Amino acid sequence: MYIDHALSARKLPEIPEDREEILRVLSREIYGSLPSAQPAAAEIDSEDANAYAGKATERHIRVSFSVPEGKFSFPATVLIPNAVHRPRLFVHIAFRPNVPDRYLPAEEIIDNGCAVAVFCYTDVTSDDGDFSNGLAAAYPRTGAESSGKIGLWAYAAQRLADALGAWQCFDMERLAVIGHSRLGKTALWCAATDERFSLAVSNNAGCSGDALTRGKQGEHVADITGRFPFWFCENYRRYAGKEERMPFDQHWLLAAIAPRFVLVNAAEQDLWADPESEFLCCAAAGRQYERMNLDGFIADDRPPAPGDFNGAGRIGFAMRSGGHFLSRTDWNAAIRFWKEKM
Ligand code: GCU
Repeated sequence: MYIDHALSARKLPEIPEDREEILRVLSREIYGSLPSAQPAAAEIDSEDANAYAGKATERHIRVSFSVPEGKFSFPATVLIPNAVHRPRLFVHIAFRPNVPDRYLPAEEIIDNGCAVAVFCYTDVTSDDGDFSNGLAAAYPRTGAESSGKIGLWAYAAQRLADALGAWQCFDMERLAVIGHSRLGKTALWCAATDERFSLAVSNNAGCSGDALTRGKQGEHVADITGRFPFWFCENYRRYAGKEERMPFDQHWLLAAIAPRFVLVNAAEQDLWADPESEFLCCAAAGRQYERMNLDGFIADDRPPAPGDFNGAGRIGFAMRSGGHFLSRTDWNAAIRFWKEKM
């Protein structure tokens, strides 16, 4: 009864059955509307066909696409395992461009037969309130529903997927997007708005990402919109201190990915993100899958604990010990969940 009681205490708004309706509300109230999709292409700046002792091909590319007043481009790095025909592909929205990186165990990902494409989010637009640089300059804020920075980073991940799909060397039926924290929020919004992504992995995304807002511990809407108002559309601030008035909650974001797969990675000591509210967000979103006669979230009826790997349904939840970071453990949970699913 733990899950049922905990969820009813949160007094959550019912998820609309129609995915388009969910996206309309989330666009209007929290993330802003994405620009319309423009096809993108990749130019290869350099290639090493024998990276990682011959195990991988490493390409440094530039992704370009049209924006209202010309063209926009940003750099990315792609690692392709040489031994796998049409590998599955992770799009990693990253804090740094480095490959490998302390958040990106590149060789281990390759050894698991996965390709990974990485871009650094600030190469798309800065992580601040300046909407006059990078992609934000092409889509400045014009109203309360204009996209925040999360939407612009998500849009860039979608354009990277366009460009890599055209290479025809990946299995685009198995395309995942992964990010940590603010970039986990971004990964979820990316997959929610683009059905080509069959899996979203959100790592420690917490407030305004993979944790229920109502009844949450740690960060609240007032904290996040006070420090990072530019991540969201301007409407979101109206709910600072008035979370019970939100017509949605974060389980809607996961539900917009249904019937596709989602993995939420939580960390025991990440109390700002609140692992219990992340777990309950998965449980609440499971309902959307059940409406589709699919297994949503399957877990023991108790609060989450370190070492948990709830991977039986289409929404997975893994929890490790430790704090707020993207670790090998988290990548390995993602790879395990993905391989068990497809
Ligand atoms: C801050 C913010 C979080 C965010 C995190 C991050 O802690 O309050 O919401 O997830 O930064 O992106 O690392």
